Amino acid sequence: MKITSNFLREKFLKFFADRGHAVIQSASLIPENDPSVLFTTAGMHPLIPYLLGQKHPKGTRLTDVQKCVRTGDIEEVGDDSHLTFFEMLGNWSLGDYFNHESIKWSYEFLTSPEYLGLDVNRISVTVFAGDEDAPRDEDSANVWKACGIPAERIFYLPKKNNWWIAGTTGPCGPDTEIFWDTGKPACGPNCDPSCDCGKYLEIWNNVFMQFNRQADGTYLPLAQKNVDTGMGLERTVCVLNGLKSVYDIDLFAGALAKIQELSGKTYDETTKKAMRVIADHVRTATFLLGDPVGVVPSNVDQGYVLRRLIRRAVRMANSLGMPKGSIAEIAKVYIEVYRDVYTELTENATKIIDELNKEEEKFSKTLVAGEKEFFKVISHIPGNVVPGGTAFKLYDTFGFPVEMTVELAAEQGYTVDLDGFKKKFAEHQAKSQAGSEQRFKGGMAEGGGIETTHLHTATHLLQAALRRVLGDEVKQKGSNITPERLRFDFSFGRPMTKDEIAEVERLVNEAIQAKLPITCVELPIEEARKTGAIGLFGDRYGEVVKVYSMGDFSKEICGGPHAENTGDLGTFVITKEQSSSSGVRRIKAELRK
Ligand code: ALA
Repeated sequence: MKITSNFLREKFLKFFADRGHAVIQSASLIPENDPSVLFTTAGMHPLIPYLLGQKHPKGTRLTDVQKCVRTGDIEEVGDDSHLTFFEMLGNWSLGDYFNHESIKWSYEFLTSPEYLGLDVNRISVTVFAGDEDAPRDEDSANVWKACGIPAERIFYLPKKNNWWIAGTTGPCGPDTEIFWDTGKPACGPNCDPSCDCGKYLEIWNNVFMQFNRQADGTYLPLAQKNVDTGMGLERTVCVLNGLKSVYDIDLFAGALAKIQELSGKTYDETTKKAMRVIADHVRTATFLLGDPVGVVPSNVDQGYVLRRLIRRAVRMANSLGMPKGSIAEIAKVYIEVYRDVYTELTENATKIIDELNKEEEKFSKTLVAGEKEFFKVISHIPGNVVPGGTAFKLYDTFGFPVEMTVELAAEQGYTVDLDGFKKKFAEHQAKSQAGSEQRFKGGMAEGGGIETTHLHTATHLLQAALRRVLGDEVKQKGSNITPERLRFDFSFGRPMTKDEIAEVERLVNEAIQAKLPITCVELPIEEARKTGAIGLFGDRYGEVVKVYSMGDFSKEICGGPHAENTGDLGTFVITKEQSSSSGVRRIKAELRK
């Protein structure tokens, strides 16, 4: 391999360090103070406050290699290009230099014999074509020309291609993207870098961040002009070595060899996809478990994604006949591969190995029972669609993840009626319980049942306790329940004190210990209002609603379902009290048995 991963990382950081950039550590994979995303998905993500104008302690020129996780295309993993974990090389100007220096340095790094020494004739670039939000970027095009890129290899593309933003709001701007010509013939007269025929492969993206996109779609100028660049390490190593797949690069060699050794099978067309999925998922799981912030498998948020990655890898490993404990063996290979670059993996090696083995054990039990049941029921299904009710029963009774049912079904030539499954799931969940749609959107479908019902009941007790301690200004603003915790948003103008939190917790536990019976009556809405029940009344005159009472402690309009007695709930623990938005606080709490 001409350009190894270590070589690219080291050269990149040195190049920018020599040009006044402070080398900063990769931030955690778990974003701090940003509940809008589960993982750090780009190098710029941890730097958003500084792109918006806050002073960075290390100055105005930074460079780093950022660990990233993107799981949006998880089904594509195992093809030639998709990975769930990758490293992004980047350099930043925080209101320092702008497009001129940025382009010249990119050109120098790529072509200078001291660095990558690439053939300039195989480099093409794109620049922003211009629209009502920002002008055509002739300025950047001219810099490229001055570097030696001829006009015919400079392409002007619209916002769809040459504008970068993380999500929908925040710092953004036009970019210039750098492409490597693989040498394939053009697919037609209109072939350009936006074409996915394989002639042009992107290696670097330089974003000229000068706008802040508002929720209403308008662009306000930022206080400072920034540069944010991103070069995907695995992808660039692949492309520049003329390899067909990212899985062919040095970072995967050890893991793929280990997988072959453990399975006794060779890496070929029939085993390739499974082996690549294992290599990818175990690598991502190793980094998530080894992250300084740290995630462990669970049924929610990052923990759920981690669980899903591990379980998918275990299933693939089983299908290749790999023995128990193989996942941890592969993780050990990665810990070694990254020993000098990501020391946190070595530091957390015991935790990584233990958690992987624990999760494999847990999942094996679920799988054995679920798969057995799957094959039993599928033999009785006429046609080739697994009904939603069947998928739901597998999930509800056997804890068998619906995505596993989908995968097994696909292997047998069946599809699954997912709409039917969702309907069954929704019927099963509390009608008033928000969030189940989102859980599906995120691909989540584990757990559920009795835990969520109990947490739903606890939410009522919590609201009643909050009103006793903080006053009647407390009104529900949002509620979200997963099998592991409740989240309750409510109107209140300041952080709660420690004593207030403790008092609320105490009141809820007192109500639980009092073993209050839970009753439900159906009343026309105006009658319900007269009983003093709280809840969302709306204006639907005459509508009949359910009023749930928990002794004298709580009376609330709600669709249910609830526990029969508060005594069933266990111990109520508030795990977090934080701001949700202006004038709204958020509490997260759990029930412990
Ligand atoms: N933020 C830019 C990207 O991720 C550089 O492509």
